Amino acid sequence: MQNKKIKLTFLTAHLSELPELDQELIAKAKEAFTTAYAPYSGFLVGASVLLDNGEIVSGSNQENVAYPSGLCAERVAMFYAGARFPDAKIKSIAVSVISKNFEVTDVVSPCGACRQVMAEYEEKQEQAIKVILHSPTDEVLIANTVEDLLPFMFKSPLLKKH
Ligand code: THU
Repeated sequence: MQNKKIKLTFLTAHLSELPELDQELIAKAKEAFTTAYAPYSGFLVGASVLLDNGEIVSGSNQENVAYPSGLCAERVAMFYAGARFPDAKIKSIAVSVISKNFEVTDVVSPCGACRQVMAEYEEKQEQAIKVILHSPTDEVLIANTVEDLLPFMFKSPLLKKH
């Protein structure tokens, strides 16, 4: 038997300390949360994806009275990007949140399903995706690769062959 350790790396900063491009992407994510359809949770999330062709594609969470039918902002943005620009690589994704019902002070942290989707795009494009998580108080947490957000992700090369 052997205990093994894994190392996860992330960076924390204030919005003002970030490079201009990252700040712009966060601004787009903040614009995007205004389009959220979140009448049940009142938790408005925006996500913006920067592609290697220079395009920025945004999405927001879309809820439904049949609760599991809704979708998180991250997946709306990534699937939209994949559908519009199937050959482009995702360079980074910024996620921001505001809430009508709760006092949110921390960054929004993507759910497991969104991490899985991010991880598969990262694997497919063979290039790391930078994940930029933004809080309503302008604190930011950055992971330079989805691997740091989802160690031991489900990968199945066998399934891919079909
Ligand atoms: N949500 C997102 O869109 N992204 C996240 O990272 C966390 C949660 C949405 C799903 C649901 O519409 C609402 O926030 C409350 O969970």
